[in-house]
Amino acid sequence: MKFFVDTADTADIADLAATGLLDGVTTNPSLIAKAGKNFLEVVAEICKLTAGPVSAEVVALDHPTMMKEAEILRKIADNVCVKVPLTIDGLKTCKALTSEGTMVNVTLCFAATQALLAAKAGATFISPFVGRLDDNGYDGMQLIDDIRLIYDNYDYTTEILVASIRNGMHVLEAAKIGADVITAPPAVIKGLFKHVLTDKGIEGFLADWAKTGQSIG
Ligand code: E4P
Repeated sequence: MKFFVDTADTADIADLAATGLLDGVTTNPSLIAKAGKNFLEVVAEICKLTAGPVSAEVVALDHPTMMKEAEILRKIADNVCVKVPLTIDGLKTCKALTSEGTMVNVTLCFAATQALLAAKAGATFISPFVGRLDDNGYDGMQLIDDIRLIYDNYDYTTEILVASIRNGMHVLEAAKIGADVITAPPAVIKGLFKHVLTDKGIEGFLADWAKTGQSIG
C-alpha cells in the first residue's frame, strides 16, 4: 500500500520524505490556505521533495476553466496529479486529461457509484473521504470495501486512495481491504511508528545496557 501525506506543509513533507516511506502528497485548497503560501510556488516546492504524485486541485467548477487551470498545474512538474471534484464537469476534465496522459485524482467521493463513474472516466486515483463519512454517521470503511469489490469485478485500474483519514485504525482497515493508497495528515502517519511497548522496550534495553558499562565502537 502506498503512503501519501495530506498536507501542504513543506517541512512536514521533507521530514516524512527522509524516512524513505513517502510515496506522494495530496493537497486541497483548504490545506493551501493553511500553509499560507502561493499555490503554484508551494506545489513546485512539494514536487521537488517527492518523486511521487503530488495532487493539486483545480478550483473552477466548469469544464473549460478546469482545463485551463489544469494546463497551468500540469506544467509545474511531471509528477503533478491534477485533482478534480466528482462532478459532471470534473469527470469530463478527468477523461480529457487522462486521455492525454496526465494523472488525475478525483476527489470528494462519498458513494461507490460515484467511484464507478470516476473509473469509467479513466481516473488515476479515486479519493473516497472516510473520515467525513464517519463524522456524518455513515460507515466510511464500508465505502472502501464496496469500491474494492466493484473495481475488482471489472478490473478497473483506478487506484483507491483512501482520504480524510483520521487515525491509525483507518489505515489498518484500508490495508486489510486492499486499498491501493492512503493519504493522511503528518501526525497520523507519525503516530503509526509509535507503540507504548516499543518505547518501554527501548527504555528497558538501554537501562540494562548501561549496567554492562560497554559501548559499541
Ligand atoms: C484528500 O485528498 C483530502 O485532501 C483530505 O483527505 C480531506 O480530509 P479532511 O476531511 O480531513 O479535510
